[in-house]
Amino acid sequence: MGRECPQLGSRALFPDLEGTAYLAHAAISPLSTPVRERIAEVAADYGRGGMVGFARWAPRLSQVRQDLAAIISADPGEVAFVANTTQGVIDIAFGLPWRKGDRVVLFDGEFPANVTPWQQAAEEFGLDLCWLSLDPFQRSVDEGLTELERVLDRGVRIVAVSAVQYKTGLQMPLADMAALCHKYGAEIFVDAIQALGATPVDVSWGIDYLSSGSHKHLMGAEGAGFLYVAERCAAILKPRLAGWLGHKEAAAFLMGDEPLLSYDNPLQLGAPALETGTSNVIGLAALGASIELLAELGVPAIHAHVDAYLDHLEEGLIDRGFRSHRAKAPALRSTLLSVTVPNDVRLSKLGAALRGRGVVCNTPDGLMRFAPHWPNALSEVPEVLAVFDEVLADLRGGA
Ligand SMILES: Cc1ncc(COP(=O)(O)O)c(C=O)c1O
Repeated sequence: MGRECPQLGSRALFPDLEGTAYLAHAAISPLSTPVRERIAEVAADYGRGGMVGFARWAPRLSQVRQDLAAIISADPGEVAFVANTTQGVIDIAFGLPWRKGDRVVLFDGEFPANVTPWQQAAEEFGLDLCWLSLDPFQRSVDEGLTELERVLDRGVRIVAVSAVQYKTGLQMPLADMAALCHKYGAEIFVDAIQALGATPVDVSWGIDYLSSGSHKHLMGAEGAGFLYVAERCAAILKPRLAGWLGHKEAAAFLMGDEPLLSYDNPLQLGAPALETGTSNVIGLAALGASIELLAELGVPAIHAHVDAYLDHLEEGLIDRGFRSHRAKAPALRSTLLSVTVPNDVRLSKLGAALRGRGVVCNTPDGLMRFAPHWPNALSEVPEVLAVFDEVLADLRGGA
């Protein structure tokens, strides 16, 4: 039985989604019917057969691995399942063969998921954290790259950056950054959770490591994600945090006719070494269902659709006295729009009042952030702006 096809601008696959406009995909995505059905299918299989369910889903998870690899143009052998974005950052921050004094470049203003593990590694291995401002990148790619080159020239081991900045929605010029890193003998690590599913990212741009959870623009559930390790980097990593599944032939002793248990099997290299124990089958199956929808629509088409939505919304908000932080250059735009609210309005009160009237968005770190996705129809925008007018009038009238 075929399922309904996803369509840009249609909420048909989200029949229970409440409110006028769901604009919080940069936080947590709602689950579509195919994703919910896939979760129910896994639960039913495990309910019926326990380990028989496992045997049925193992090959399907291989397909998920292939699909994940395909969205970033990687090889499936370069992809490890992890619990969330942070786990992938930890794996690399604690897996590189550090030398005391190695320099790590971080950006001031990044989401902490891509900071804390590097800080921990710096303490553990005596690393030098080098902070760069995002402002030059916000002004222009050239200015940003000039600043980056200035620190790379002093010797850097790795640069850690988000593909899309969670606060402003700035899409980082990853291909240029990767080329510059490699020119100076540095590697680049990418936190891709604010991009994947809505903004194209391709590891052939020269990305060495990439990590992402699935509950934002990939539209899966929380607690399932993946880590990419470029094959060329596989032999460099020291899996200090390896588990039983990191070994070669890890599960052979559970299946053979003869006893085969050994603690000395060598560890695998690269991504496969970092899968520590059993995976989140339900979460990964959900992610698989969502990726099928995204692949059907195509990420470039989704990006263009959301960009058009944000053009209208941004214009309407500027007219109402909001200040936009969206990049001017199309290449630096993502599917996030953040604005500073007018001086006479309290951000938290505005956010709560909008939610109360069915417009769901977030307010990270002092800004109001909108993140539509493929189900949001362009025709929603006038309704959203009408809600803004009502809410602003109420807040100002009540002040
Ligand atoms: C850029 C960025 N990285 C990471 C995360 C979350 O990390 P994790 O998947 O480990 O919860 C978020 C938001 O929650 C984010 O905006």
